[in-house]
Amino acid sequence: MKRFAHRGVMALRPENTMSAFRLALDTGADGIETDVHLTKDGELVLIHDETLERTTDGSGMVSSYTLNELRRFNAGVRYSQQEVIPTLQELLELVRDESIRLNLEVKTDVLRYEGIESRIIDTIEVAGIDPSRILFSSFNHETIHRLKQMRPDIEGAILLAQPLYDLVGYLKFVGADSVHPHINRITDQEIECLKQHDIPVRPYTIKTASEMKRCLALQVDAIFVNDIEWASKTS
Ligand code: G3P
Ligand code: MG
Repeated sequence: MKRFAHRGVMALRPENTMSAFRLALDTGADGIETDVHLTKDGELVLIHDETLERTTDGSGMVSSYTLNELRRFNAGVRYSQQEVIPTLQELLELVRDESIRLNLEVKTDVLRYEGIESRIIDTIEVAGIDPSRILFSSFNHETIHRLKQMRPDIEGAILLAQPLYDLVGYLKFVGADSVHPHINRITDQEIECLKQHDIPVRPYTIKTASEMKRCLALQVDAIFVNDIEWASKTS
């Protein structure tokens, strides 16, 4: 069972920062999950929320600032350290010579960020990273559909925060390859059914020993965790 560092190792470092991503590499994560937004001037930045208040010393919408303006804010403020909001390009450069996978969660479920899908594909192509190391996901399944149309060879997962009727049929309809469900919003039977169809399942976010035990018993493909070393000790 593979372990993805959720927003980097967010239990120990400021989430979605280079230091959180570096710790994922240093602690042997199989993958890094991060959240992608579009700036006012069309740049791709890694931050979870549409707004700046929770994780930085800035305020307002990410989409209302240019990249240069965003770079003035501190994304390490909750840990009393200095961190800039990273770009997707910086993360791709960090992992280029490693084998770790990257799960790019495209945050188009609140703001549509028109054109973000092609911007992401362009950035990945310029970075020259092996496409098998990239894994797209989104709560906006239209985004996954678009990405799969542009690059059918790159895996695309639907994120699920609630139950969905006929998951296997729906995945085919969207053109998606895999499912990233909230751990408490999917049944054992649904997971078994997906596995029977060879559809990878990667629940988020595993925080307790009992959730870990359940994922191990069900032999899910991977899990999202906030602390890779905790996951290694617990599994
Ligand atoms: O991709 C798993 C997880 O990150 C989805 O939820 O809100 O943490 O981005 P969220
Ligand atoms: Mg996410």
